Amino acid sequence: MWFFLVKITFLLYNICMKIKKLKFNNGTVLANNIMLAPMAGWTDVGFRSLCYRAGAGLCFTEMISAKALLYGNKKTFDMLATAENEKPIALQLFGKEPDVFAKAVQLDEVQKFDVIDINMGCPAPKIVKNGEGSFLLTNIELARQIVRAVRQNTNKVVSVKMRKGYNENDESALAFVKMCEEEGVDFVTIHGRTKVQGYSGSNDLDFIKRCVETVSIPVIANGDIVNKETAEYVLNYTGAAGIMIGRGALGNVEIFAKCTGKSCKISKKEQILYHFCILEKYFNKKMLSLTMKKHLAHYAAKLAKRGEFVRKIMNCTTTDEMKNLVNSYF
Ligand SMILES: Cc1cc2nc3c(=O)[nH]c(=O)nc-3n(C[C@H](O)[C@H](O)[C@H](O)COP(=O)(O)O)c2cc1C
Repeated sequence: MWFFLVKITFLLYNICMKIKKLKFNNGTVLANNIMLAPMAGWTDVGFRSLCYRAGAGLCFTEMISAKALLYGNKKTFDMLATAENEKPIALQLFGKEPDVFAKAVQLDEVQKFDVIDINMGCPAPKIVKNGEGSFLLTNIELARQIVRAVRQNTNKVVSVKMRKGYNENDESALAFVKMCEEEGVDFVTIHGRTKVQGYSGSNDLDFIKRCVETVSIPVIANGDIVNKETAEYVLNYTGAAGIMIGRGALGNVEIFAKCTGKSCKISKKEQILYHFCILEKYFNKKMLSLTMKKHLAHYAAKLAKRGEFVRKIMNCTTTDEMKNLVNSYF
């Protein structure tokens, strides 16, 4: 009896949150429609692996230069590291040359990824100045060539991550989403801010809703989702096929468990030590220490003595010292 009551409650919860598996034409299936956003400097292999453990349906690497991959840049190849539990997994590429994308997606090292995502939303000045990221929103024909080049050279799931436009006067974004559909993109993710807005102002959920109504491919809504309530609101308001969470997941991987109606069985301390453990396999000591110092400031968000802990962490010279502090504060 209790078992059925719990089961029904769980089903109702998921209907309310519209938790569903996403299936794509090539047979790839996502366990659920709650995704971790690509975040340069943050969505490292350890963090992603932890997000999968907490219940994320799909995690994205940070943006990776298609050109650097083609030129065999060692540091860039190191960024392709994935952990065993990262399945399915999305690789995000940025660049501006269709032929570079075409060759990059054919590299052996890229074949382990299930989803190839094209970055058409990054507002960082260095990227935009180079004609990449959100600059592509100003040149739909070039963007089309890039999407086509990727689509024609891989049978992986192909997605595009974009913003609502370059600036407020930009009315081409809906046409942009349609272009993605015409070119055989499997899903698009939309952050409802313009490039010019950066991360300020509000996230335009009405625009995301219009995209959902305009195309028949899945649209994933992104922007300002920080807990189960905002996740539910965005899914219901926009009618999107799924959501993508960025900043709201930093130090807070429980968000994936909460959004998928599960309890997160890993304590904060276990999360941190797991993150360390995965990164130790892939990162050198310097990178490990730098990366974990950043993350620890987020993991400690709710710690009573957060200030003291973060100050001590920043002064650590070895990872053993960092782990000892974690063991005594958490
Ligand atoms: C530190 C940081 C790094 C980011 N790096 C990337 C990136 O590499 N590729 C990308 O498409 N978006 C990147 N973004 C944008 C996020 O993926 C996401 O679209 C944005 O943060 C809005 O979602 P949120 O409100 O859930 O954070 C980055 C955002 C932040 C804050």
